[in-house]
Amino acid sequence: MSCTIKTERITKAFGAKTVLDGIDLDIGSGEIFGLLGPSGAGKTTLIKILTGQLSQDSGEAYISGKDTRKLTGADHKRFGITMDNFGLYERLSCYDNLKTFARIYGLPNSSITDVLAKVGLTGAAKTPASKLSKGMTGRLKLARAFMTDPDILFLDEPTSGLDPVSADEIHKIILSEKARGKTVFLTTHTMTEAEKLCDSIALLNEGKIVEYGSPEEICRRYDHQRMLKIHLYDGRDMQLPHNRDSATALAELIAGGKAETIHTTEPNLETVFMELTGKELSA
Ligand SMILES: Nc1ncnc2c1ncn2[C@@H]1O[C@H](COP(=O)(O)OP(=O)(O)OP(=O)(O)O)[C@@H](O)[C@H]1O
Ligand SMILES: [Mg+2]
Repeated sequence: MSCTIKTERITKAFGAKTVLDGIDLDIGSGEIFGLLGPSGAGKTTLIKILTGQLSQDSGEAYISGKDTRKLTGADHKRFGITMDNFGLYERLSCYDNLKTFARIYGLPNSSITDVLAKVGLTGAAKTPASKLSKGMTGRLKLARAFMTDPDILFLDEPTSGLDPVSADEIHKIILSEKARGKTVFLTTHTMTEAEKLCDSIALLNEGKIVEYGSPEEICRRYDHQRMLKIHLYDGRDMQLPHNRDSATALAELIAGGKAETIHTTEPNLETVFMELTGKELSA
């Protein structure tokens, strides 16, 4: 089923603090969208508004054309959500954790074995949640989000705190859900994750979207950040802008036998974010 997300001028304040300040998004069905921003930027707040857990102060949010303030139980069944506060029962096994959710949704026990297989936890079905590694816990959270075979996944920092191998396992699961036509809305602090997974991303800073587009498009817009990185034989490193003005200096370094290696550094989401906000994205 097609599942689009659209927001128009969403604002949200907590007390005197404006957290979201006019957010416009348009996410196509079957897309992986990444919301990036430093800690406190308002990412989780936006997910809560989109999933009907919180109301915006003004503006509109729609999932497949439906106002998120009017979502019903049937709509919620179409959402798979992972967030910090959607806790697991530590003392229950993976299977029993999922069984509690299966009961809530009136799903057969076969749905539990299916999702455990999907996230590679069949062998850990009887393991208590408290005994799982961080990566396995992340996958169990995904399993729970998949229970209703939702059309849309809201994944709030699905790989936060994971080692690269565990993160990669989760990336593969997310990509296979995309291949099944699911729409994915994820938040992350990790630029490489966004570059690897996302069809489009928005950079959120101080309540506003400061860039929006595909990772490639955004990086292309910042092509002026391309630099020549030169390592000299005397051990020093230097950088020159990647443009005609550097030609003479570069020719002199080469002619003088001073340049040992020359590399081009491309703009990436991390450097773009730094330029836009003066802050590093990674917490
Ligand atoms: N219920 C609340 N009451 C008051 N302030 C809140 C509430 N929820 C969030 N905030 C504040 O809103 C701001 C944005 O919070 P939010 O959790 O959306 O950020 P985030 O981008 O998800 O950050 P992180 O990357 O750390 O998860 C923060 O300053 C936070 O303290
Ligand atoms: Mg958050």
